[in-house]
Amino acid sequence: MTDELKKEIEGARRSFLHDLEHVQSPEQLAALRERFLSRRKGQVSLFLARLRECPPAEKPVAGQEINRFKEFVEEALAGAEAARISASAPWSDPSLPASELPVGRLHLIADIQRRIEDIFQQLGYEIATGPEVERDEYNFTLLNFPEHHPARDEQDTFFLEGHDDLLLRTHTSPMQVRYMLAHPPPLKIVSPGKAFRKDDPDATHSPCFHQVEGLLVDRGIHFSHLKGTLEAFCRSFYGPDVVLRFRPGYFPFTEPSAEVDISCFLCAGKNSDCRVCKGTGWLEILGSGMVHPQVLRNCRIDPEEYSGFAFGMGIERVAMVKYGVPDLRLLYDNDLRLLGQFG
Ligand code: DAH
Repeated sequence: MTDELKKEIEGARRSFLHDLEHVQSPEQLAALRERFLSRRKGQVSLFLARLRECPPAEKPVAGQEINRFKEFVEEALAGAEAARISASAPWSDPSLPASELPVGRLHLIADIQRRIEDIFQQLGYEIATGPEVERDEYNFTLLNFPEHHPARDEQDTFFLEGHDDLLLRTHTSPMQVRYMLAHPPPLKIVSPGKAFRKDDPDATHSPCFHQVEGLLVDRGIHFSHLKGTLEAFCRSFYGPDVVLRFRPGYFPFTEPSAEVDISCFLCAGKNSDCRVCKGTGWLEILGSGMVHPQVLRNCRIDPEEYSGFAFGMGIERVAMVKYGVPDLRLLYDNDLRLLGQFG
């Protein structure tokens, strides 16, 4: 009897191992456990039931055989279960260095804007920002634009429908007016922000762009203060060797007015094929001038007592000049291959 039982147990063990090897899912594993270990009809229970027929002398040995088989099945099933769990969980080693997380950066435009602000703050300027939807009066009239100036044309300016006196500011210069009306001199501000013009987008134009405006009003201010300030700014921003060139220009709100160029930082005028300055040796970077006495008067400041200078620069233009960005539209594409290089 014991020999017979032993043989059967051996057969069951082989069958169990064969099936265990072919298990492919948690369900199949559970079914195998049921088949061998279920209390009522499992193979182990069936073997135990047979003990009753055993002669008393053989019972202890037969019982031991069955128990060993039971333990074997239990261990094998537990091992298979553990292997299944560790295969489905991702392997992790807590002693490895953490994988690198992508770190965000400032957009090139925001980065340039902050660096310009930083330099002027070091020179004692305050930052003053104003609305993008502006009154015609502040954008044009009080800045001394004549009634029929082309910039006032619907062709060039976004007016708000149903509000003749409201528009998207075409430059940051209306902040000069706002600030002067609200603060008595002396005053010293830079004002960064968006401006809007009805331009078709191309490599150098965008209907929305960014500027930084500067304004200083005090007693005894003259052109050399403007020159010294812009030189200090440009040396700090573009490098200590940069040379400035002031060319006569025209803006309704400054008199005299000057367009400012810097010497080409790439070739310093020595390469007639230079891709940055196109061989001219100069790069135009901003407009500036002495605040027009009429603008001071419009803002309730006495031009006999006070004078001032102002300047305005385009941030996209700075990006193109300083970093050789060939097409301004690239700055708005949100392509991380470009943006990831800056900031
Ligand atoms: N507002 C001018 C523009 O958008 C730029 C400018 C020129 C600003 C001369 C100034 C200035 O403050 O003095 O083209």
